[in-house]
Amino acid sequence: MAASSTIRWEQDDTGVVTLVLDDPDQSANTMNAAFAASLAAVADRLEAEREGVRGVVVTSAKKTFFAGGDLHDLLAVRPEQAQELFDRGMAMKRDLRRIETLGVPVVAAINGAALGGGLEIALACHHRVALDAKGSRIGLPEATLGLLPGGGGVVRTVRLLGITDALLNVLLQGQQYRPRAAMDKGLVHEVADTPEEMLARARAFVDAHPESAQPWDAKGYRIPGGTPANPKFAANLPAFPANLAKQLGGAPYPAQRNILAAAVEGAQVDFETAQVIESRYFTELATGRTAKNMIQAFFFDMQAVNAGRSRPAGVEPRKVRKVGVLGAGMMGAGIAYSCARAGIEVVLKDVSVEAAEKGKAYSAGLLDKALARGRTTPEERDALLARITPAADPAALAGCDAVIEAVFEDTALKHKVFQEIQDVVAPDALLCSNTSTLPITSLAEGVARQQDFIGLHFFSPVDRMPLVEIIRGDRTGDEATARAFDLVRQIGKTPIVVGDSRGFFTSRVIGRFINEGVALVAEGVDPASVEQAAAQAGYPAKVLSLMDELTLTLPRRIRDEARRAAEAAGDTWEPHPADEVLDRMVDEFGRPGRSGGAGFYDYEDGRRTRLWPGLREHFTRPDTDIPFEDMKERMLFSEALDSVRCLEEGVLTSVADANIGSILGIGFPAWTGGVLQYINGYPGGLPGFLARAQELRAAYGERFAPPGLLEEKAARGETFTDAR
Ligand code: NAI
Repeated sequence: MAASSTIRWEQDDTGVVTLVLDDPDQSANTMNAAFAASLAAVADRLEAEREGVRGVVVTSAKKTFFAGGDLHDLLAVRPEQAQELFDRGMAMKRDLRRIETLGVPVVAAINGAALGGGLEIALACHHRVALDAKGSRIGLPEATLGLLPGGGGVVRTVRLLGITDALLNVLLQGQQYRPRAAMDKGLVHEVADTPEEMLARARAFVDAHPESAQPWDAKGYRIPGGTPANPKFAANLPAFPANLAKQLGGAPYPAQRNILAAAVEGAQVDFETAQVIESRYFTELATGRTAKNMIQAFFFDMQAVNAGRSRPAGVEPRKVRKVGVLGAGMMGAGIAYSCARAGIEVVLKDVSVEAAEKGKAYSAGLLDKALARGRTTPEERDALLARITPAADPAALAGCDAVIEAVFEDTALKHKVFQEIQDVVAPDALLCSNTSTLPITSLAEGVARQQDFIGLHFFSPVDRMPLVEIIRGDRTGDEATARAFDLVRQIGKTPIVVGDSRGFFTSRVIGRFINEGVALVAEGVDPASVEQAAAQAGYPAKVLSLMDELTLTLPRRIRDEARRAAEAAGDTWEPHPADEVLDRMVDEFGRPGRSGGAGFYDYEDGRRTRLWPGLREHFTRPDTDIPFEDMKERMLFSEALDSVRCLEEGVLTSVADANIGSILGIGFPAWTGGVLQYINGYPGGLPGFLARAQELRAAYGERFAPPGLLEEKAARGETFTDAR
């Protein structure tokens, strides 16, 4: 075989061929051109030497079994290359099929992660033995990148598991399973604890099943659970799209629509035709905009963010061993849990031991639920709880190498709690505040070591929200920034680093979205249409319901503070069209949001029941005629434009941080690839976006005026990307 081969052929004297996936030019195996050529060569040779081959074992020499499609390639592919992409995919699938139907047992020995293309190769094998390697994951996550598994993954999971299970457990949401969970779902047959055991089990299968073939190639095979040809199944089919929308919490994305279609259509035809259908749907997605946006964000930007693009270089990494959490309320309790889960000792301090105990009980509650679902063991639960020490006495924080403050949102109180502990903790302890609105620079004035003071903005609920916004005050040092970054990574979350500004990055930008939704109500749009516009734009939360959650009083308070600050600085203050609605809702109608029992929605026992009918009576005007597309784009543009301003002002220093922060932190629609990728991917690119912003500005006001940075970049033909 050619020297550049990515698949090594090892044959023993009993006639078993081991195909070792081992790309000599990369740290991981991917479905690149070299792999395609190697696969074709291997299929040729197996066919030619078929008489001497007793069985085939497929495994890998890398840490991961196989990494999947080559995402650099997919990012670069252009719509006019659709046919070429389709042909390449089909060729690879035919080669896998040749091996699958050779007439000898074919076994996958999955020695590490098998995601996407990796699992697709394994699915073409008759039997799958997975090694329970640390961190190993098995699944078809293509949907999370706006794609579908185009290497036979849809066709084979449908035939292996049935349409419903394949869609719900594997395809539509791209779940990633640990090896044993993958076995429970029927994706692999056996799990081994050591590499030797894995290979021995693979060999044992070859010995025991000389006549092995895929179930779907056996006579009389039927897809488990039936197909749309069965009347009972067909009767359930119309409910699929609606259930899907419900499960995904909004309008289904193109990937989910295509996956559904490929699965259902492919189930009604023979295997080969199903492969063609799958490739057509794949090609449509891969050459479209959404997949590129999502690959950019969820693969490349995510990698850049987590690898430390925004972490100051040259600071030695250091692990936190003991953290003090000040305030055991909603946020403090969640932060304590997340730290303890990462193996860090936690002192959880509140005004009384009882209050601190209550905060610790929150962890116990979460763990009991995890235990009931089989996601933790009693030993793990007890060990985690033992790491949290409730306290009221500041002296309990002795020796802490980091402190995270989460007391009430009050500058004087925050100053006071830092005063109490700053001489007790380690002399170089990192000092963090979880404030959501107070400027870090002025909070830092309350401590002796301002260079070690930093904002660490968690999101609620802390145990589930993956993002943490790190805020540098004017005097925060590089050392503290790097250590805060490392701490966030240590607890398994994704950090973005931003500058001090009112609302930092996330709260500031989400404020634009909410205000835009309320402005539409002020302009007389039916509130139900406003909610619909947010959902159709792809936001996970509808705009007025989100406002109710945050409470209407919070943006009023922030607005009033900002106005006072602007007036004090002699700046002009632009009132926002949303102001009047917020004021009337709170002052005239007494509807401050969900926690107050009434807001844009009515509530019964804390549960949202319906949009408040009074909205239509007091605000909706029949003569208002705002195009639906404008409503959607006003929300998206208001956030994207302000993000460009954040970049201009140095509040943001990284495009990747902006994209990831907007999706993970504030629910900017994932299909866009994030606030700045949305601009890159807008029809017509930056000039197209700019022209549309000018239209919105002319129609709806100066807040849509494009920032200078956008105009400059558009004029230079650039896009928003990080310098590499
Ligand atoms: P909370 O009201 O649930 O908890 C505050 C806790 O601080 C209470 O348990 C209180 O007893 C305790 N506390 C008061 N004085 C104390 C003292 N002297 N020493 C120790 N503990 C003391 O508030 P929540 O929601 O947990 O917010 C805490 C901080 O996190 C605030 O600054 C808030 O702005 C910020 N934040 C809140 C978010 C949210 O979604 N609620 C999101 C992100 C940040």
